[in-house]
Amino acid sequence: MSESNIIDGKAFAARLRERVGNEVKTLKADHGLTPGLAVVLVGEDPASQVYVRSKGKQTVETGMESFEHKLDASTAEADLLGLIDTLNTDDRVHGILVQLPLPDHIDESKVLAAINPDKDVDGFHVINVGRLWTGADAMVPCTPYGCILMLKDALGDLSGKRALVLGRSNIVGKPMAALLLAESCTVTIAHSRTKDLETRCREADILVAAVGRPEMVKGDWIKPGATVIDVGINRIDAPEKGEGKTRLVGDVDFAEARTVAGAITPVPGGVGPMTIACLLRNTLVAARRQKGIQATDI
Ligand code: GUN
Repeated sequence: MSESNIIDGKAFAARLRERVGNEVKTLKADHGLTPGLAVVLVGEDPASQVYVRSKGKQTVETGMESFEHKLDASTAEADLLGLIDTLNTDDRVHGILVQLPLPDHIDESKVLAAINPDKDVDGFHVINVGRLWTGADAMVPCTPYGCILMLKDALGDLSGKRALVLGRSNIVGKPMAALLLAESCTVTIAHSRTKDLETRCREADILVAAVGRPEMVKGDWIKPGATVIDVGINRIDAPEKGEGKTRLVGDVDFAEARTVAGAITPVPGGVGPMTIACLLRNTLVAARRQKGIQATDI
């Protein structure tokens, strides 16, 4: 049985970071402008702490300024809104990211709505959601944007292809569908209530899995030769590695899928590294737009 091409997200992300770094140098040299990214973390969720640390480190490595705000889990909603207000008017800050999830006593939609849409490098503000769906210049959510870059690299023109997005979250599923539609794909959004899910998946030339269910998509759900993008990052027990050990798997059964798909992203090393690289790209784009600097996209 033949094996798929493995889409190397780690290498792709490294190349994108390098391009962003070069553009940052040009921006400094030509305009005296250093893009700045503020990341706000409320509480001590271990996974969020790891992400925030990586974001800060890569922001600095790319030549941008990083502002980290770590707030206690008991922080009042009003205090968080006050901090966002300060960041909205701080000229050194071009991008603002509030790490999700937030503690239960804080209203997430209120917080996201408080971010200046032009500094909303996550693309979660309703203004950016509206801009994305209407084809205007939006800040685009990082994970789906990274998926589109990898798909275009693997396939070239996506026009007319049948794409199925498994998952309907605001962070991945819905913006992913909008981006595929903008590339003139015929798009299906599938979810837990979708009938004949396996058949729908088998019809897709492009399958994007973003449901957070370990290895749910099996090899026989995939159309032979299809391109598979696995957004899932699930930690499961791995007794074969020893007692108490775990490993990361995606939403796709990789061992099965790679014998059927034409190309596939692995987990880890696929979509994951692209998300932060796209955040850095978004911060660069936001800084340029806020200063009215014209440049070709990267
Ligand atoms: N939590 C998990 N993914 C994300 C993301 O892309 N952005 C933010 N802000 N929080 C997250």
